[in-house]
Amino acid sequence: MNRLGVIDRYRAFLPVTDKTPVVSLQEGSTPLLPAPRLARELGLPETSVYLKFEGMNPTGSFKDRGMTVAVSKAVEENASAVVCASTGNTAASAAAYAARAGLRCVVLLPDGKVAAGKLAQSLIHGAEVLAVKGNFDAALDLARRASQELGLALVNSVNPYRIAGQKTAAFEVVEALGRPPEYQFMPVGNAGNITAYWAGYREVATREGLGLPRMMGFQAWGAAPIVLGKPVAKPETIATAIRIGNPASWKAAEAARDESRGAIARVKDAEILAAYRMLARLEGVFCEPSSAAGVAGLVALAKAKAIEIADPKELRIVCVLTGHGLKDPETPKSLPHKWRAVPADFSALKKALAKR
Ligand code: F0G
Repeated sequence: MNRLGVIDRYRAFLPVTDKTPVVSLQEGSTPLLPAPRLARELGLPETSVYLKFEGMNPTGSFKDRGMTVAVSKAVEENASAVVCASTGNTAASAAAYAARAGLRCVVLLPDGKVAAGKLAQSLIHGAEVLAVKGNFDAALDLARRASQELGLALVNSVNPYRIAGQKTAAFEVVEALGRPPEYQFMPVGNAGNITAYWAGYREVATREGLGLPRMMGFQAWGAAPIVLGKPVAKPETIATAIRIGNPASWKAAEAARDESRGAIARVKDAEILAAYRMLARLEGVFCEPSSAAGVAGLVALAKAKAIEIADPKELRIVCVLTGHGLKDPETPKSLPHKWRAVPADFSALKKALAKR
């Protein structure tokens, strides 16, 4: 299959020229999956809910869309090394793209708070992994200083090339639906992605004379600075990807919320886990816990009958599933399952299957 990466597919809308060396893993072009069983469960029109499964990117998260642009530009600008702070996915993506470009990569991770798959990715791609004795916010402060004082190229989403690449997901949604959705639900951590989608939707709307979705962002209950209107010194949640107390793109996220007549609200860890399981069991889609925060928000609003339905046949709701479930192999084990041991014996198997 000849798949174009984000830069080759959307070159005209990105800050690249013919001289930019393209560092790509053929990211983007992710599926927009209809979710009729989930929609029915929530009492919404069966044709209304779609899942933008960003876990299908090369390193398993949406970060690859921005990283292809950020690393390509770093090479163009003769950087010899990149640095980022990360709850895991940015680091995994930076490590992979830096490896492909032959650049040194330094990643600063909150010690003990990164899911196993993400840490494994940073290690195998040869990044220099530094476990910071502090949270993501402290690690980001260090990464900014390392960039300013040591000359490493910062590839967090404060780098505008990251946001430029990530906005292409909105282009793909509009292409797949033929128009923007009425609502988009998504998790919010450092708030770069909601900023990027809003930029992307605004761009296509201007270009093609289309409407705009309401941007519905969800933070975890114990890590909800935008909802509370002040930084959270000790953010806590099982959704470690969005365990962030002082988001870098705070103001831009508020602008996306307000300009789109959307909302940024918070969901409890139990609601996130319930949505995570629901996606896996009703739709066969395995995302990481943080990715399910947006769906948990949709569940809450659907239950409260707070989704406006002008025409049931025409309603389109997109939930962005930001990362793949295999990133975090531990969380499923903490939930109740049908799991039993059986002797290697057919009659024992028959007996076990008779008791459901
Ligand atoms: N979902 C996943 C799976 C993430 O990894 C992140 C952020 C988000 C949602 C939130 O996106 O920060 O743009 O609001 N992960 C960053 C990281 C912080 O370091 O990997 P955001």
